[in-house]
Amino acid sequence: VFAQVSVTIDAAKPGPVINKNIYGQFAEHLGTGIYEGMWVGPESSIPNTKGWRNDVIGALKDLHVPLVRWPGGCFADEYHWKDGIGPRDKRPVKVNTNWGGVEENNAVGTHEFFDLAELLGAEVYVNGNLGTGSNQEMSEWVEYMTSDSKSTLAELRRKNGRDKPWKLDYFAIGNEAWGCGGNMTPEHYANLYKNAAAFVRTPPNAKPKFIASGGHDNDLRWSDVLSKQIKQNIDGISFHYYTIPTGKWEVKGAATGFKEDQWASTMKNTLAMDKLIRQNTALMDKNDPQKKIGLFVDEWGTWYDVEPGTNAGFLYQQNSLRDAVVAALNFNIFHAHADRVRMTNIAQMVNVLQAMILTDKNRMILTPTYHAFRMYVPFQDATALPVAIKNNGKYSAGNVVVPQVSASAARGKDGKVYLALVNTNPNKAVEVTVNVAGSSAGKAVGQVLTAAAMDAHNTFASPEAVKPAPFAAQANGGKLTVQLPAKSVVVTSVE
Ligand code: AHR
Repeated sequence: VFAQVSVTIDAAKPGPVINKNIYGQFAEHLGTGIYEGMWVGPESSIPNTKGWRNDVIGALKDLHVPLVRWPGGCFADEYHWKDGIGPRDKRPVKVNTNWGGVEENNAVGTHEFFDLAELLGAEVYVNGNLGTGSNQEMSEWVEYMTSDSKSTLAELRRKNGRDKPWKLDYFAIGNEAWGCGGNMTPEHYANLYKNAAAFVRTPPNAKPKFIASGGHDNDLRWSDVLSKQIKQNIDGISFHYYTIPTGKWEVKGAATGFKEDQWASTMKNTLAMDKLIRQNTALMDKNDPQKKIGLFVDEWGTWYDVEPGTNAGFLYQQNSLRDAVVAALNFNIFHAHADRVRMTNIAQMVNVLQAMILTDKNRMILTPTYHAFRMYVPFQDATALPVAIKNNGKYSAGNVVVPQVSASAARGKDGKVYLALVNTNPNKAVEVTVNVAGSSAGKAVGQVLTAAAMDAHNTFASPEAVKPAPFAAQANGGKLTVQLPAKSVVVTSVE
């Protein structure tokens, strides 16, 4: 049974640019996210470039990864950058107290991270240590990265193999100051931030964009207090929100093998991102009406119970069609707030939480989330276009009721109009009439991602169980109608 939904794109009313960094990634020293998953070292038998796995880098390049945040997360507030420079066999071994208590040999440090960013062609977002570091330590790190002088630190960088300074795009002062970053109040953090940012100096042409560590979930005080109190040296306030099927940290729900109730609650919980962004941006609009400060959702994604038998501190989880739908719903939400949301970072890139890629020794698989990111590449730096949905259906299960169709449109850098559609209903397909205001839509050409089961996923034995298929539709009698399968994501050009 098909409901008739109509989507109208207003191509004559261009909105803000969808900053490519909305498709940013996050790589923390956590579990096998960096070590094994991406970094194997130059001596490894796994083919690599400067220690970074060629297979993983190759796949990530196809996502046009615009930006990578590193080294954490909670790890950032215990990371001392001087541990990660110089000959690798001389670097100190520390304990990663946040994530599994495992040894951290510091093989990946500043130089290796910038190699990764260069291999990917990505901008860099370095998260400074406010928790156990000092203003001096942060300011010296930034000098080491950005100074073209003959200072002792710049010369040390040269001795360690890097002559020219790097371009440091973003620098954050601490992470989750309300929690693992030091259990602070926003007022206390605002003062520490102002103090630290005043001392992290660079030549004017090398100044990174500065990020303050903001709020999470329903805690709106951070966006309010920080945007009110910090008026200098600030480009973004971060915000963290994770999608947990049960909504409870103690028992979050499994990544696969779940029932429809957890499909539905996951849809509902992830769609809450829209309301949370609205609430945070309303406060920022009051304090920063010129929108100088961005809201950077620098941690988001699904967070499930870890896979049975894996280290609880490694946050390793499978990734199913449900995750791809979650990713697409969030992209559509971020696009709708592109004027303020200028960066987001999914947690995390490889082997951790809602990952793009899972690895097992020398093998890797691409997750459904990877495919969603790849399908949405045309939206990077595209110009948002208003979309009106009429006669939208509801998907309901138990006491959950959410809109059935989510849509987003933009004019890509190639001049084409792109439309993304998501069907949240795992049981029912939906027919969508696509209109472009002021002109006729003749055809749609793109890709669709769906599968028979809600928890369909890729495994090392069956790596292509979930992957996109071609999608096309032609107008009939001047009307362009597309079939959106149950539980699917479609990204298509509309001509
Ligand atoms: O992404 C995993 C962790 O979640 C991060 O380290 C922390 O910032 C957040 O609590």
